Amino acid sequence: MAIYNDKVLPRLINFACGERALAPWRQKVCEGLSGAVVEIGFGSGHNVPYYPSDIDVVYAVEPSSLAVKLADKRMKSAFVSIQLIGLEGQAIPLANESCDAALSTFTLCTVPNPELALRELWRVLKPGGQLHFLEHGLAPGRSLAFTQRLFDPFQHRIAGGCHLTRQPLSLIATAGFELVWSQEGPGKGPKPWSYFSLGVAQKE
Ligand SMILES: C[S@@+](CC[C@H](N)C(=O)[O-])C[C@H]1O[C@@H](n2cnc3c(N)ncnc32)[C@H](O)[C@@H]1O
Repeated sequence: MAIYNDKVLPRLINFACGERALAPWRQKVCEGLSGAVVEIGFGSGHNVPYYPSDIDVVYAVEPSSLAVKLADKRMKSAFVSIQLIGLEGQAIPLANESCDAALSTFTLCTVPNPELALRELWRVLKPGGQLHFLEHGLAPGRSLAFTQRLFDPFQHRIAGGCHLTRQPLSLIATAGFELVWSQEGPGKGPKPWSYFSLGVAQKE
C-alpha cells in the first residue's frame, strides 16, 4: 500500500485534479486572494495558474513529495512567490495571524481531522482574513447521498483517506468562520465525487 500511496496515487490525483472542467471553479476560488496566502493540500499546484498577481507569497503545505515534484513546471511558471513550508495542514508552521488569506481546494475531504486543519487556518489568519474554499462533499439528494455513503469506505482506502461524505460548509461554520458567500451544486464528473462547495469565509 505504501508504494501505491507514495508513487501511484499522487499521479492519479494529479490527473483527476487536472481535469479541464475544474478550470472555472479554480478561477473563481482564487479570485480576490491577495497578500500572504497559505494553501493547504497544495498537491501538484493546479491552482497556481489562477493565483492573482495581488498575492505576495503563497505558503504551500503538502505532504506528498511526488505531488510537489509534479507541480514543478507550474511552480516555475508562477508569477507569484511560492514557498513550500510544511507537510501537515493540521500543524501549519506559521505564526499566529501571519496570513491575509487561506486556500483549500479538495483538501478538507482528505485531511484526517478537518476540524483541526480549520482551527490551524483560523490561527494563522489575521483578523478579517479570508478562507477561499472549493471542496467536494455530501450531496443533499437522498439517493446520491446513499451512494456516497456506500462508496465512502472504498474511496477512503483507495484515495489516500479522501471522504465523499464530509460537509464542508458545516465544518467551516463550526470552526467559527463567517460565510461571506458560498454556492453548492453539482460539477461535471461522476456524481458521487462532484457535489461541490465553493466560497469565501472570514475570520471575524
Ligand atoms: C485531492 S488532493 C487536492 C490537491 C489540490 N489541492 C488540488 O486542488 O488539486 C488532496 C491533497 O491533500 C493532501 N493532503 C493529505 N493529507 C494532508 C494533510 N494532513 N495536510 C495537508 N495536505 C494533505 C494530499 O497529499 C493531496 O495533495
